[in-house]
Amino acid sequence: MGSILRFSDEFIEDVRARNDIVDVISGYVQLSHKGTSYKGLCPFHNEKTPSFSVHKGRQMYHCFGCGASGDVFNFLMEYDRQTFSEAVESLARRAGMEIPQESADPVGRAEKGIRDRLLEVQKEAAKYYFYVLYTPQGRQALNYLKGRGLSDEIIKSFGLGYSEKTGTGLYNYLKKKGFTDAELKDSGLFVYDDKSGRARDKFWNRVMFPIMDQNRRVIGFGGRVMGDAKPKYLNSPETKIFEKSRNLYGLYAARSSRKDHMIICEGYMDVISLHSAGFTNAVASLGTALTSQQAALIHRYVKSAILMYDSDEAGIKAARRAIPLLREAGINPKVCDLKPYKDPDEFIKGLGAAELEKRIEKAGNGFMFEIEQLKRSFDLTDPQGMADFQNVIVAELLKFPDEIERNSYLESMARTYNIDPDLLRRQLARLAMKGTSPPPKTVDEIKPPVARVKDPAALRDEKILLSWMSRDEGLTKYLKEYITENDFTSDIHKELVNALYDQARSGTFNPVSILNRFEDVEEKSAAAAVLEGHLLPDNVDDRNRAVLEVLAAIKERSYNRALESADITDPEVMQKFLLEKQKLEELKRGGLAIGG
Ligand code: UTP
Ligand code: MN
Repeated sequence: MGSILRFSDEFIEDVRARNDIVDVISGYVQLSHKGTSYKGLCPFHNEKTPSFSVHKGRQMYHCFGCGASGDVFNFLMEYDRQTFSEAVESLARRAGMEIPQESADPVGRAEKGIRDRLLEVQKEAAKYYFYVLYTPQGRQALNYLKGRGLSDEIIKSFGLGYSEKTGTGLYNYLKKKGFTDAELKDSGLFVYDDKSGRARDKFWNRVMFPIMDQNRRVIGFGGRVMGDAKPKYLNSPETKIFEKSRNLYGLYAARSSRKDHMIICEGYMDVISLHSAGFTNAVASLGTALTSQQAALIHRYVKSAILMYDSDEAGIKAARRAIPLLREAGINPKVCDLKPYKDPDEFIKGLGAAELEKRIEKAGNGFMFEIEQLKRSFDLTDPQGMADFQNVIVAELLKFPDEIERNSYLESMARTYNIDPDLLRRQLARLAMKGTSPPPKTVDEIKPPVARVKDPAALRDEKILLSWMSRDEGLTKYLKEYITENDFTSDIHKELVNALYDQARSGTFNPVSILNRFEDVEEKSAAAAVLEGHLLPDNVDDRNRAVLEVLAAIKERSYNRALESADITDPEVMQKFLLEKQKLEELKRGGLAIGG
């Protein structure tokens, strides 16, 4: 979570002060004045009624529709795909400020220099592969791509290319461009011989797929053989700039497709086919299973996803792994049936885009998909098998904390499998009575383990309190007595509460500047969303009551968590817990009395 290395905090704050957020955003979005804030159509998702608001006082924006939030720097990072440094630079330029070239931190400068050079290497390599594709040497590769239905336009927009057979073409080209062996070694594009020290290209005689990050910078490659040789795809190894678990193929385009969902598929060719057919919201992971970081990345743009994995066993398995992961990230997963075709690429070739659109509309939700998969391990013609299957359904239903949602699934389960809904309801009640849902053994056996779910209620309360604190210095000072980072459950929340206390103590209360602490765009925008999320009630009494309620809820959970892992046989420990409990009760009885 380091700090931003290139510019000092003073400089960043100076840039911020000279670039009013309303002015800057007005250059991109038509805003109209409403009370203390300005409203407009959100540029980050598709909408017809404005839910995007820019707050002049706080110098932040927030969309109540898609949750996008941030400060003036975030806006440019999101909208123009700039990096943080680029956003600072362009706003400094906009304000006519002089831009400091030297970083105060030599290590940071060197590190950034290395990364920049590595990006240069990848970019030049992509140019080279693309160039070779259109020379006589690349003829076969070009024919291969054309044979798979790709137009010149698509080839160009995905930057596809060809690595020749010589095995040193790229190496020689980049050496001529002035890159050193040290730089090339770290690029993952070459294989160095230990003895002779000589290098050869890692990729040869392959069709090349540059992998770009969400800002459209090339960070690595996948290379496909044109025949049946193995491995079919060879991928760049991870490097300083290429982290497979944190990037998605096609994301740079999908993020601005303005659809309310993304399509997640398995392969590079699937993404390209989908984009060519107009589904520009398709992404794929990079030769590995979908990760929770990738789910979080998707969640920044959309709240629902269609899984279009291969229709074979491996694809079904991958979908079953992805579903809980997406759900945990706050994404509603649906599964698209591609049968009788193997993958989206072949489906589009076989039945076309319009037919795929219909399948998307029919895509079943993740829960139904999961039950359908579980069903396969029971013999439903046998009464015992049917009873076991019902147990499994009930155990799965119990996992929905929301009663309304649970009920609606119960109804549709009953309908789908011809079971009496009252029977399911009674079974559900019986199982719920037993306390923490002991799932039937069969479920454990067939289900992949689900990661421990973070408590969404806890996260929500923490967000509310932090948002309120950031709006009121007095409140922040007051709460210092009552709540510490240990009461919070997420790292970002811990960092935020500490930063708020720091600022309140040192008399530099300016919550928006806390965002500078987060270098990672995702973390930065998550932190901004927390600060921007909630307004304090206007009335003082309402305010005190509301704060108390949220504070008590957080403290109570924190208390219970601590108790869970404490040694309750130790009287001293128990004494401490009792005191804590007393304090909490007193607080609840006495109420808060924070200024007017
Ligand atoms: P597929 O074999 O389904 O790829 O693997 P595909 O895109 O349909 O390939 P085509 O249509 O035959 O060209 C899905 C993904 O798994 C990774 C790649 O990312 C690929 O896109 N993969 C596959 C590898 O990394 N290595 C392999 O050997 C095979
Ligand atoms: Mn394929």
